[in-house]
Amino acid sequence: MNYETHNYDILIVGAGGAGLRAAIEATNDKSVKVAVVCKSLLGKAHTVMAEGGMAASLDNMEGEDNWEVHFRDTMKGGKFLSNWEMVEIHAKESAERVRELEEFGAVFDRTEDGDIHQRPFGGHTFARLAHVADRTGLEMIRTLQDKAVHQGIDVFMEYRITKLFKDGDRISGALCYNRNDGKFTLFQAKAIILATGGCGKCFAVQTNSWEGTGDGHALAYEVGAELMDMEFMQFHPTGMVWPLSVKGVLVTEGVRGEGGILKNSRGERFMFNYIPDSFKNDVADNEEEANAWVKGDRQKNRKPPELLTRDVVAKAILEEVKADRGSKHGGAYLDIASEQSPDYIKKRLPSMYHQFMRLADVDITKDPMEVGPTAHYIMGGIKVNPQTTESKIKGLFASGEVAAGLHGANRLGGNSLTDLLVFGKRSGEYALKYAKNCEKTPSVSKEEVDRAIEELLKPLGKEEGENPFTVQSELKETMGKYCGIIREEKEIEKGIKIIEELMKKEVAVPDHRDLNTAWHAYVSLKSLLTVSLALAKSALARKESRGAHTRSDYPGYDEALGKVNIILNKSGEDMKVSKNPLPQLPENLQKIIDKYEQ
Ligand code: FUM
Repeated sequence: MNYETHNYDILIVGAGGAGLRAAIEATNDKSVKVAVVCKSLLGKAHTVMAEGGMAASLDNMEGEDNWEVHFRDTMKGGKFLSNWEMVEIHAKESAERVRELEEFGAVFDRTEDGDIHQRPFGGHTFARLAHVADRTGLEMIRTLQDKAVHQGIDVFMEYRITKLFKDGDRISGALCYNRNDGKFTLFQAKAIILATGGCGKCFAVQTNSWEGTGDGHALAYEVGAELMDMEFMQFHPTGMVWPLSVKGVLVTEGVRGEGGILKNSRGERFMFNYIPDSFKNDVADNEEEANAWVKGDRQKNRKPPELLTRDVVAKAILEEVKADRGSKHGGAYLDIASEQSPDYIKKRLPSMYHQFMRLADVDITKDPMEVGPTAHYIMGGIKVNPQTTESKIKGLFASGEVAAGLHGANRLGGNSLTDLLVFGKRSGEYALKYAKNCEKTPSVSKEEVDRAIEELLKPLGKEEGENPFTVQSELKETMGKYCGIIREEKEIEKGIKIIEELMKKEVAVPDHRDLNTAWHAYVSLKSLLTVSLALAKSALARKESRGAHTRSDYPGYDEALGKVNIILNKSGEDMKVSKNPLPQLPENLQKIIDKYEQ
């Protein structure tokens, strides 16, 4: 088989926030060779689609924010299933990473005093999201990319990794092809960092850019790493519902953070009816208090019910639709026009203003938006060491959405962007240490590479076989129907059966490698099927409702399941499911949680 070979000390897969932050850290040492490969063009990662902001206890607004409150909020939001060590690291290091991003050149919105402005978001006790209007991810990528390029990284754009290799128990390399001409390249590396993002593309209604096909999850699983918490797919409560061509596109939580309210078809502000007991102390339970909050007369710790955590708001909208009180096209009305002035809306939410004007012909400074739940973010991913981000495979690191542990059963909005900075940096730092301790680059077996290429070429020019786009559509429909927001035993089982059938299908694509989109769809399909099966199997195993995972047949918490993570391992051709006890929360951290619960 014909392929090029490159040798690097560290290979970073993905050029979103985590990948770029890792690259900056790793290239601090000029003696190591670092490469970044990305499926897209540099600067086009899914991170640019993050809107509302990045969460860090900078304490620039009203309140008395600090890492302890951020720690408590994240643990509570994750329904206490998060890895406490990752939550502690994240809460302690986020503020420093945000300030550092500013030093790298990010231009944040400012308060009147000239500090970084922070907006409120669901589940965060204080206004905590540092932001750049509603285009925060774009500014993050612009800044990190600028810094990384000036530091000197080799970038391979539009290269897609299709297989990882090991030498004994160590990672040793990755095979990829160029999306333009289909040529193969083998990267031999001492350490590999996966920063490939999420897998929202296994659903039809979702917020992800085309890259979100779960490649990193699937590649790591295939090479023997463990996946964890895959049942927890976050459905963001507010995606566009109309027109159909843009159904699912994100409507930032920033709209509610800036005072937007949710109403049903009768004009009722229904979220007051959905405040869970555990949030009663945090949320305004009457209109007067909630309205005063919007006007800036904010009572400490009490927010409008639209800023409950995403799992709660998404399910409330579904309930309203089910009760025949939904909006015209099957969602809810999100109204900011009656709460804020047109100038304020255009200043704080310029992208939302343009998005609705251009895509839906709605002027959000005058009329409400129609919104509904949309698959947004997977809390599950590769199980990693909380300090180093290394997976079970030596030399294979992971950070950002592809890694599990920080967000538990439900992520708080804004925690993902600081996750990228905090753990992306750690991936770079520890991969660098690892690579420097590795005397020689581990080897990749030529036979394995040949076999991997043969497998990839299999569908090219086949006379008979399914269209990969059709199989992808069937998969997305199956996931929405059987593994969506509300799940049930028999339905999940049906979903698993269909996914397993889809896995057996032979696919055929045109016989060439130049810009062959059907071939790319076949490669994506393989990843999508693996992550979908992982999600469904984990959902079946978690016989309770917790955070983003709701079982209609097990509506409450199960105490025993609240103490374990669901883990998936490759065992021969089987996906093995097991339960892993959560690490014991130390007493000092338990005290912090108790302190803020009062
Ligand atoms: O609503 C949003 O702006 C999304 C932010 C996030 O998922 O962190």
